[in-house]
Amino acid sequence: MSNENDHSWLKQGSTSAADVAKNYDDWASTYNDDLVDWDYRSPAAAARLLQAMVSSDATILDAGCGTGLTGSALKAADFTGPIDGTDISQASLDEAGTHGVYRNLRQADMQKLPLDFADDVYDGLICIGVLTYVPDSGGVLREFARMVRPGGAVVISQRSDLFQERAFAKTIKGLTEAGIYAEATITEPQPYLPGNPDFGTEIEVLYVAMIVA
Ligand SMILES: C[S@@+](CC[C@H](N)C(=O)[O-])C[C@H]1O[C@@H](n2cnc3c(N)ncnc32)[C@H](O)[C@@H]1O
Repeated sequence: MSNENDHSWLKQGSTSAADVAKNYDDWASTYNDDLVDWDYRSPAAAARLLQAMVSSDATILDAGCGTGLTGSALKAADFTGPIDGTDISQASLDEAGTHGVYRNLRQADMQKLPLDFADDVYDGLICIGVLTYVPDSGGVLREFARMVRPGGAVVISQRSDLFQERAFAKTIKGLTEAGIYAEATITEPQPYLPGNPDFGTEIEVLYVAMIVA
């Protein structure tokens, strides 16, 4: 039987979409409280990055919105336009729907591309804490660029350990050289889940802020 208080799987970061969906379904009702306990700062940090790149009335997709912490951070950062959310975990989407933040919430698996979203429909896209679980970083970042209009912005996060292991900087460079993104800025590593002993100061987070070409 699963135990919603056992998060030992989190550090390992499975790339089995079915396992991940089940883990997040089981965790959905207590996720927000746990993340507050662990001093999770990514939603607010990412919202600030996006704020510098698109207007406050931007139409935004929160890709991997989970229970809605990032949508709430966007609202707290005074974004006033429509925010849509998508995630593989239906229980997380149900929780996100209770906060009155999202225009539409839709279940989708980011390991199955293309996603069922039209071209150029968003001014901004934010994907926070999700790419741990999506090994084809290049594929999904190309897909994000398809869904965001030229000149729009994409802000993503990646764990510092996986940033190295998956040669993330090389992927980003390849996407700018291929003309998918016009520019990309990678931040310094910052605290990720400092209050979670499995992460502590050992695993940090980097953000990548990109302009769609
Ligand atoms: C650490 S949570 C982050 C949620 C939210 N962005 C936040 O910052 O609180 C990771 C989220 O990624 C979602 N996820 C993982 N793999 C996915 C996939 N293949 N497709 C869509 N969502 C996925 C999980 O269901 C979970 O909600």
